[in-house]
Amino acid sequence: RRRIGVLTSGGDAPGMNGAVRAVVRMAIHCDCEAYAVFEGYEGLVNGGNMIRQLHWEDVRGWLSRGGTLIGSARSLAFRERVGRMKAAKNMVLKGIDALVVCGGDGSLTGADVFRAEWPGLLADLIASGELTTEQVEPYKVLNIVGLVGSIDNDMSGTDATIGCYSSLTRICDAVDDVFDTAFSHQRGFVIEVMGRHCGWLALMSAISTGADWMFLPEMPPKEGWEDEMCSVITKNRTERGKRRTIVIVAEGAQDRQLNKVSSSKIKDILTDRLGLDTRVTILGHTQRGGAACAYDRWLSTLQGVEAVRAVLEMSPQSPSPVITIRENKIMRTPLMEAVQATKDVSAKIDKKEFDEAMKLRDPEFKE
Ligand code: F6P
Repeated sequence: RRRIGVLTSGGDAPGMNGAVRAVVRMAIHCDCEAYAVFEGYEGLVNGGNMIRQLHWEDVRGWLSRGGTLIGSARSLAFRERVGRMKAAKNMVLKGIDALVVCGGDGSLTGADVFRAEWPGLLADLIASGELTTEQVEPYKVLNIVGLVGSIDNDMSGTDATIGCYSSLTRICDAVDDVFDTAFSHQRGFVIEVMGRHCGWLALMSAISTGADWMFLPEMPPKEGWEDEMCSVITKNRTERGKRRTIVIVAEGAQDRQLNKVSSSKIKDILTDRLGLDTRVTILGHTQRGGAACAYDRWLSTLQGVEAVRAVLEMSPQSPSPVITIRENKIMRTPLMEAVQATKDVSAKIDKKEFDEAMKLRDPEFKE
């Protein structure tokens, strides 16, 4: 029986457990054995008890659970070739030559590097006497498939990453809660949300909560933004009678000189210019934990099923795929194409080419 490994890597995200559950059960459905690699790539490097077979019942109840029940880690060891050699040896010893990795672009790039190096790693293991040619023979080809698990929704080529809608839901709930107290005291709140270098969570939560103003990494404020922000907020409070003011700041938001947009500076502007009693709330890791929302439950399930199909069907020549969703269709996209397109957007933002970056994300974008 073929053995398929599954691991979660990088920052955890709601829906990762649903993905592992789907991979385990689809693998069993396809007459394969499923192995969970605990603690991400660290488990692959350490082997032994960190790579364990999971059965159908082992993943019961995992669909709604937050975080990742098989653990995740940022493995320094796997970044080195010697760590990847250990990982290859452990996989051969466990009889695993197909791997589904759920994580962000860094984790998926690591998987692709591992696959490209695989024949060389096996040759080195034979040359150093750690494995014999006979041991290696059945596992000469490594198949790898990626699933994008991240609350940030920062991967090109897919409409949504596993976890982003759960996080968005949590942010909206938190902003609603802040609304109540802001309304009571007629206060302003500057709310900082996660997303690393991507403004998706900030943009979507600002739209979904009817925020007064927002700051995104992809659209740094233009000259005179302080006046504009104050005038919009004043209008909302006086003419439209709003009792509370909400400004959403993406944690990666920056100005045109690439300095981080400071939530406390925004608070000071609202306090000093408008006399608005203002507080800063940084939502932090509450945005990453908790149960997966309905969308992430079905997305992770459908994508986990597709990942097993892909890992069994791919040929040694085909590039590693990542499972995506586009216009509500679950699809396979060459992993490194998606990673490269994501990098292209980030590079433009790093070089202050913000409008170009927006056009890469959305060809219809106009400044
Ligand atoms: O990538 C997910 C994410 O939650 C980002 O939104 C955030 O910037 C980062 O991870 C936080 O990482 P850590 O949990 O290591 O502090």
